Amino acid sequence: MGLATKDLIQEHEVIRKALNILSNAVNQIDKQNINRDLLLDLVEFFKIFADKCHHGKEEQYLFEAMVSKGFSKESGPIAVMLSEHTLGRSFVRNMAEALREEGDSSINKFKENALQYIDLLNQHIDKENNILFVMADRVIMDEEQEELYKQYVKFENENIGEQKIDVKNKLNI
Ligand SMILES: [Fe+2]
Ligand SMILES: [Fe+2]
Repeated sequence: MGLATKDLIQEHEVIRKALNILSNAVNQIDKQNINRDLLLDLVEFFKIFADKCHHGKEEQYLFEAMVSKGFSKESGPIAVMLSEHTLGRSFVRNMAEALREEGDSSINKFKENALQYIDLLNQHIDKENNILFVMADRVIMDEEQEELYKQYVKFENENIGEQKIDVKNKLNI
């Protein structure tokens, strides 16, 4: 496994932990037990860690490197991954919106979007770990993986900084 794909696989494990916390929180909602602070922390985590940082690195660096090796961006696996990132973003946006609204319908809105997001992202992670990143490792050699990793670090320092750690710490993951 290359350095650049390994870094993303490690982030997948952190994202999965947050998805499990979200799944438990959604089950608690059924028992009328709503921990709004936790739900806000979760939404913040998915916005910053999962989307801005993790999907940012995939979209701007790894996928682009694959495109430069001949993979299509308009069809096939990369196109599917990109459309799933977009769909996931809309679920997170709806969850955030639901938390700003009042009443039973907002609770249902949160729940429906959370359940779809959990399902989507778990399957998305499986596809990347087992298919897409295996393809990436076949065409992107060690030296280039190291170069990509350096770009990830620069991207994180310039765009995310301490927030990446903060959103993780709030969830104790
Ligand atoms: Fe992805
Ligand atoms: Fe990913």
